[in-house]
Amino acid sequence: MGPLESPSLESHTLRLEPLAVAHAEEMFETLSAQSIYDYIPGGPPSSAAALRERYAMLARGRSSDDRQLWLNWIIRVRSGQCAGFVQATIYPGRTGDFAFVLAPEFWGQGVAFEACQAAIPHIARQFGVTGLFATVDPKNVRSIRLLTRLGFLEIAPSGYPHGEVEPDDRVFSLSCTPYFVPNAG
Ligand SMILES: CC(C)(COP(=O)(O)OP(=O)(O)OC[C@H]1O[C@@H](n2cnc3c(N)ncnc32)[C@H](O)[C@@H]1OP(=O)(O)O)[C@@H](O)C(=O)NCCC(=O)NCCS
Repeated sequence: MGPLESPSLESHTLRLEPLAVAHAEEMFETLSAQSIYDYIPGGPPSSAAALRERYAMLARGRSSDDRQLWLNWIIRVRSGQCAGFVQATIYPGRTGDFAFVLAPEFWGQGVAFEACQAAIPHIARQFGVTGLFATVDPKNVRSIRLLTRLGFLEIAPSGYPHGEVEPDDRVFSLSCTPYFVPNAG
C-alpha cells in the first residue's frame, strides 16, 4: 500500500473512511447546517457538485507542489450516517494542522473525541508526524474542550509553525512522539 492509500480506521463505534469523491452527496447534507460555521471560515457547500469538485482535489492527498500531505477521513457512525470529518495537513517538517467538523446533531456525544482518538495515532505512526497544531476561535468552546480532552496544550501564537494565526485565535499543540511506541503497529 502506498503512503496515501490510507486504510479505513475502525474504533469502538465508528468507521473513518478515507475521503473520496463519492462521499460528496452524503456530506453535502452533513455540512449543510449554518451553525457549523459560527467559529470557522466558510459556509455550507453551495451544491453537491461543488463539494464533488472540492473532494476531487482533496482526495489527491497532496498539494500540487507535493509539499503538503492532505489526510481526510469521513466519520461514519453505526447507523450508517456520515457525522462529519477529521482532517490533517502535514508539512515538510513532519508537523501538521489538525481539524474536525461534525454536523450539530452529532455534537455532545463524544463522537468527535472518538474519531480524533482513532485518527491521531494513525497520523503519527503512518506519516511520522511529531506534532499537531490547531488554531481556534476563542469563542469555540466545544473545540477547545475537545482539544484539551485529547491532550493538546495551549501555546503562544508565535510558536505556530505553519503561517500566520488569525488575530485573537488560540493555538493548541499535541506532541505525537508518545505514539512512536517500540514495535507498535
Ligand atoms: C468542535 C466539535 C467537533 C466538537 O464536538 P463535540 O461533540 O462537542 O465534541 P466531543 O466528541 O468531544 O463531545 C463532547 C461532548 O460529548 C459528551 N460525551 C458523551 N459521551 C462521551 C464520551 N464517551 N467521550 C467523550 N465525551 C462524551 C461530553 O460530555 C461532551 O458533552 P457536552 O457537550 O454536553 O459537554 C463540534 O462542535 C463541531 O463540529 N463544531 C463545528 C466545526 C468546528 O468548529 N470545528 C473546530 C475547528 S477548530
